[in-house]
Amino acid sequence: MSNSGEAELLHTFKGIPFTTRSSPELLKSLDTFDAREDDLLLVSYPKSGTHWLAGVITKLYNTQVTITSPIEFGDISQLEELNKLSSKRIIPTHLDYNMLPTNFKNKKCKMIYISRNPKDTAVSMFHYYRDNPNLPTVDSWTAFFDLFLKGNVVCGSWFDHFLSWEEHEDEKNILFLFYEDMKKDLPKVVKEITLFLSLNVSDNDIQDICKKSSFSQMKNDTEKENSDPTHTVCALTSNRKLIFRKGAVGDWKNYFTPKQNIRFQEIFDEKMKLSKM
Ligand code: A3P
Repeated sequence: MSNSGEAELLHTFKGIPFTTRSSPELLKSLDTFDAREDDLLLVSYPKSGTHWLAGVITKLYNTQVTITSPIEFGDISQLEELNKLSSKRIIPTHLDYNMLPTNFKNKKCKMIYISRNPKDTAVSMFHYYRDNPNLPTVDSWTAFFDLFLKGNVVCGSWFDHFLSWEEHEDEKNILFLFYEDMKKDLPKVVKEITLFLSLNVSDNDIQDICKKSSFSQMKNDTEKENSDPTHTVCALTSNRKLIFRKGAVGDWKNYFTPKQNIRFQEIFDEKMKLSKM
């Protein structure tokens, strides 16, 4: 981070860095949040494909649904705003499992966790940091790489986030998805989502939804809408143009030096030794 003023863009709550756009009062009050049985949570570590998933999911419903802003974003009034919504709520969040309001867990609300190769996630997040005035400035990829591995970035350690959710992988109300699977065979993943959500969507409609959810189509749509904040799922920007950067698998190879790759792999192997990933 380049100076102390910018460091103030982040604050730490329960050991996890948040932007100041998530007020401490809101974070403290999350546990009192009243979940509804039909709430659907879209969970991710930042830059894992949240907007893509949200774009697909909204197209699956033929009843009224509202994609809210992330539950951890805003000030204390955010919780009241969410309470006022009368339609089904699709609620994005980057929260660690342990910080998720208990009510969602007790009511067994459906949750979809999307994950992505952490190396590509790191590169995507590096660009997001560079282009987003709501995040501290990073001087170089090398500097960001260190911050990412230390978990000293917004939403904390990728490893801790993933592991906190993976522990609950077998719970029937949680569906685990991977960005790379969506890239490989989107219709197959969309079918899986419809089964999980008990939605009746024909194969033809699934094909159509996948076409409308391609990277180029979503990027084009965004350029037309341009920065309508109500269309942004992300807590950290209202500029949708920052979301659709490259949309590729393996971009990390253009950034990681061989040395960085070895270091990343060592830390990955150590942290993930109990993971099924
Ligand atoms: P890149 O920065 O690697 O391009 P999030 O929505 O969680 O912030 O994730 C953003 C990442 O998802 C960006 O990755 C973005 O390009 C990618 N993405 C968004 N829509 C996509 C789509 N339709 N297909 C593939 N990737 C997409």
